[in-house]
Amino acid sequence: MAPVCVLVGVMGAGKTSTGLLVAKGLGVDFRDTDSDIEATAGKPIPEIFVDDGEEHFRTLERAAVATALASFDGVLALGGGAILAEENRAALAGHRVVYLSVELSDAVKRVGLGTGRPLLAINPRATLKHLLDQRRPLYAEVATWTVVTDGRTPEQVADEILAELAGDRQPGR
Ligand code: S3P
Repeated sequence: MAPVCVLVGVMGAGKTSTGLLVAKGLGVDFRDTDSDIEATAGKPIPEIFVDDGEEHFRTLERAAVATALASFDGVLALGGGAILAEENRAALAGHRVVYLSVELSDAVKRVGLGTGRPLLAINPRATLKHLLDQRRPLYAEVATWTVVTDGRTPEQVADEILAELAGDRQPGR
């Protein structure tokens, strides 16, 4: 069993809003590893960061990614930092991975303020810039294709993904 597609990208790329639309268009389930982690931990992500630290969150995330890739056949979104772990990047090999790319100005607009993202609690713009610079190559490494989302609505992005999937584009790198 494997997800129809896996969405990766930085916070603000639109993984959840786009993923829900793609899943709806395909008539399959949507799943988000952040929600899986919250269910396992029994508390929201900001509380995991505060109570247990980022390292513990990343441990839960590696387990959530491995489980979802092996047992879920809908549309899967990964948390923005999941690709930091070599183990997760290796696990994505052979999957259809869509990188939702976004540049800083659109990402900042989309995440807004106080969105329950602990990494952006302080100086969100500078932090997002740093994360984008650090992670772009890693998203590109795992992606089987890239969809540019700047200046586009989740509906437009989802339509492009649905069109690609309808063409049955096969993963391959
Ligand atoms: C994170 C992204 C978040 C969430 C956590 C850490 C990151 O997911 O996993 O707050 O390191 O970029 P989204 O990208 O879905 O917001």
